[in-house]
Amino acid sequence: MPSLHVNGRERPLPDGIDPATPLLWVLRDAFGLVGTKFGCGAGFCGACTVHLDGVPARSCLVPVSQVMTRQITTIEGLAGSDGRLHPLQQAWIDIDVAQCGYCQAGQIMTAAALLRQKPQPSDTDIDAAMAGNLCRCATYLRIREAIHAAAQMAPVPQPKASPPKASPPKTVSHGP
Ligand code: FES
Ligand code: FES
Repeated sequence: MPSLHVNGRERPLPDGIDPATPLLWVLRDAFGLVGTKFGCGAGFCGACTVHLDGVPARSCLVPVSQVMTRQITTIEGLAGSDGRLHPLQQAWIDIDVAQCGYCQAGQIMTAAALLRQKPQPSDTDIDAAMAGNLCRCATYLRIREAIHAAAQMAPVPQPKASPPKASPPKTVSHGP
């Protein structure tokens, strides 16, 4: 049975899923990982951001058939394996970043990728990395402050991911 590797474990795909189904809807509807949000559905807002092998990606644009061998991480998989929140999640709480909250999972996922690449980012680094994540509540200054705060915290141990499948299945099964 085809499956996806999400947050450190294999999750079987529903029978008959269309291979063109955006990853976003598989995460939300099939796996119940509803932290990843639908905003524009067209790659413009960043609300649907997840990591594919540690790199941020717009899950509304990625067909499920293209991620069969990728390590997918959602906001639900960002906390440490010891149960502690990711430093960004802690900083978001400490600084009370969210207003309506709708965009914030995507913001945190993009910020997490930035911190992995640049553990001590400048304002310029942050603004450049976060430019594609829109917030209608205009929490941008608090987001920047929280990223700086998280950069001062010790990283939490990440869950050990089992290796993804060696090769992708040729097709995803179609329904009747
Ligand atoms: S919902 Fe994917 S970029 Fe807006
Ligand atoms: S907190 Fe409301 S859209 Fe960002």
